[in-house]
Amino acid sequence: MHRLDLHDLSTLPALSGAVGPLDILINNAGVIGPDVNTLAAPDAASFLDVFRINTLGPLAVTQSLLPNLRAAPTGFGRVLSISSQMAWMGYAKSDHIAYRASKAALNKVMQGMATDLAPLRIAAVSVDPGWVRTDMGGPKADLDAGQVAEGILDLASRMTMAQTGQFLRHDGKRRDW
Ligand SMILES: NC(=O)c1ccc[n+]([C@@H]2O[C@H](COP(=O)([O-])OP(=O)(O)OC[C@H]3O[C@@H](n4cnc5c(N)ncnc54)[C@H](OP(=O)(O)O)[C@@H]3O)[C@@H](O)[C@H]2O)c1
Repeated sequence: MHRLDLHDLSTLPALSGAVGPLDILINNAGVIGPDVNTLAAPDAASFLDVFRINTLGPLAVTQSLLPNLRAAPTGFGRVLSISSQMAWMGYAKSDHIAYRASKAALNKVMQGMATDLAPLRIAAVSVDPGWVRTDMGGPKADLDAGQVAEGILDLASRMTMAQTGQFLRHDGKRRDW
């Protein structure tokens, strides 16, 4: 196991050297950040920290592990970044605004990544895991974390190049941005 703190991206080259060829990269790490709306006093440090982990983190990790994905043993590298239904532009809700914005920005990053990686035959998608019982989701959430994780692994194993650039639910169904 190799540990990585996304606050310190300087360790990424060493990670790439340590993990070897990769078929599947799942960018799962995320933080919820402060529960404030757009009227709260601006706190640039906490806002930027949420973006650092949730948006820049998956981009930087994927960039660093690109050589590993290009060497995918199956010849088909796949990148799945865990986004959120809170990114959905159909919601007008404003709580946790940094989190919502960071995941919407992550979706845009993943869409662009899909465009850039398509010629390399590497697929990139955003995944909405649903509301999951974890430290972040809390005990009242709808879904069991193990079942959602299995669903995402199954999705990763079944993914095709035709799905690249999409926003998918954990069961593989396409959803609105
Ligand atoms: N739970 C939900 O209902 C829900 C809904 C939509 C989306 N999501 C997304 O699903 C993903 C997993 O969330 P979760 O529910 O499992 O949340 P969680 O219980 O709070 O776990 C967060 C995970 O992110 C890692 N992490 C946080 N900061 C990090 C950093 N600086 N560097 C490296 N890793 C870091 C944590 O690692 P450590 O354990 O080592 O701290 C932990 O594995 C996140 O991207 C989240 O936004 C969750």
